[in-house]
Formats: sequence, C-alpha cells, structure tokens
Amino acid sequence: MNHILSTNQFNKEEVEKILSRASEMEKCLKDKKTASLLSGKIIANIFFEPSTRTRLSFETAALRLGAQIISAENAMINSSAFKGETIEDTARMLSCYADAIVLRHPEAGSVEKASLVTNIPIINAGDGSNQHPSQALLDLYTIKKEHGHLDNLKIVFIGDILHSRTLNSLVPLLAFYPGNTFHFVSPKELILNEIQRNEFKEKNIVFTEGEDLLSALPQADVIYMIRVQKERFADNATYEKVKDSYILKLEHLKLMKKEAIILHPLPRVNEIDYSIDKDKRAAYFRQAQNGLYIRMALLLYVFNL
Ligand code: CP
Repeated sequence: MNHILSTNQFNKEEVEKILSRASEMEKCLKDKKTASLLSGKIIANIFFEPSTRTRLSFETAALRLGAQIISAENAMINSSAFKGETIEDTARMLSCYADAIVLRHPEAGSVEKASLVTNIPIINAGDGSNQHPSQALLDLYTIKKEHGHLDNLKIVFIGDILHSRTLNSLVPLLAFYPGNTFHFVSPKELILNEIQRNEFKEKNIVFTEGEDLLSALPQADVIYMIRVQKERFADNATYEKVKDSYILKLEHLKLMKKEAIILHPLPRVNEIDYSIDKDKRAAYFRQAQNGLYIRMALLLYVFNL
C-alpha cells in the first residue's frame, strides 16, 4: 500500500516518475481527454485545518479521474473529533467507507499515526509544521516547467522558515539534483530549528542563513516567499512583531535576475505586493494550477496505477 506521508520516503527515480505522470495528466486535461482511471473509487478528503488549494485541487483531481468524494472540511468542529474522537479512530472509520484518505491536521505526526491503523492508502495534505509532500512535488514540477531543469539552482526561501512544512518537504527533493544551494532569510525568531538544521546537514544539503532580503534577491533563481504562520504561534506578541518582516514589492523586481521565478505556496497575507502579480516572474498562480496535475498523479500513485 502506497501511503504518502513525507517526501523523505521517495527516491529520485520515484519523484521523476510522479513528475512525468503529472505532465501526462496536464496534457490529458489540455487535450480535453477525460480519464476514468479511478472510476468506482471513493476518496475521503478530511481537513482539520482550513484549505483552499490542497482540498479543492485533490477533489478536482479525484473527480477528473472518475472517482467520487466524501469530505469533511473544518473537521475539528464538523466531525466527531469535536466530541473527542482520536485521529486513529477517525482513520479506522474512514477505512470502512473509502478507498483512500487525504488528511490535513494541525498536529505534526498525526497523519503517520492515522496511517498505522488504516488498511487503505493515506495522503498527508499537511501535518502541522512537519510535512506537506504534495505541495513540495507541485513546487518541483513548477520549477522544472519554469526553468527547464532542476539542477544548479540557487533557491532563496524568505519568511517563516521555522514553521514551514513546505520547506521541510521541498528542500530534500531539490537536494536530489546536483549543484542546488539554499539560502534561508528570516527574522531571528523564525530561523531553522535544530531538527531541521541537523536533518539538512546529515543529507549534505548546502545552505546558508541570513536576515537580509536585499542582498539575497540578486543571487536567486527561485525566490520562495513563505507566509508567517499565525496559527503556529503560541504567543500573539511575537507574531505581531515578525508578521511583516519581509514584503516583496515592485521596487525589488529590479534586483532580481530576469529569469528568476517567484513562488509562494499561498495563501499570501502580506508577503507579496499585488503590484507584482503582472510580472512574468510571478509564478505563484501557475504553481497553484500545477497542484491539480500533481495531485492527479499522486492519487494514481497510491493505487499503483
Ligand atoms: N498551499 C496550501 O497548502 O494552500 P491551502 O492551505 O489553501 O491548501
């Protein structure tokens, strides 16, 4: 059974197969060819945290492939978790009804816990600050489409480095490709924690850290903006202090390489000024669109199709 819990579970060959499958799916949709590869399957989409892109693109992906959906949004309130049911019992119940589960939960490690008691595949749609594998794969797909290659890139992450599950999932995937280096720009309150730092060091990932936006921009092939994740702060005063640490503005564009791209997993709050959206380097809506193709590929992957 193919769960998708973390990008650390994949080798380079598996990642390339997923990217290639996503490309097939993109072509299939552009050619208006409908597929019924998941006809007869039911996908349970259970989200204990808010989502626009991940939930709706997984639902669209399932429907495009001929599957049907059962779902709970706002599941902390609208499922029996509200009455105290554990994530394991919820997962057991979903296994009785559906053929696969897509699960988002605020607690790191919760999707893995659920996977231990299910007899159907489960996909991590984001677990706290831990992992967001489908986002990282769609980011990789986007970088490949935009730059034409995945090696010898300088990727600059800017913002909430500490809480970013997307960063945790994406950096090890990009590290499969030679010559990639990383620079993490954040206020000191939001730097990498020791677990992240040690993991990257163990994988021989080449990275630097700093606080300065202006000196980071000219080096970047990929500028990856990250929202300061209000929901992860125990203390509102710290959030208020750091929330607008980095805002990408029109005047910054002239510092960037002509062929650089700007990514953001979205939603943005105040990290990217709307005036930037028209610049061709602003790739974040194209990135979100690519989520559909990757999630089609991932649904097929979990069923070995
Ligand atoms: N990028 C992302 O996970 O967006 P949503 O929270 O809208 O799903």
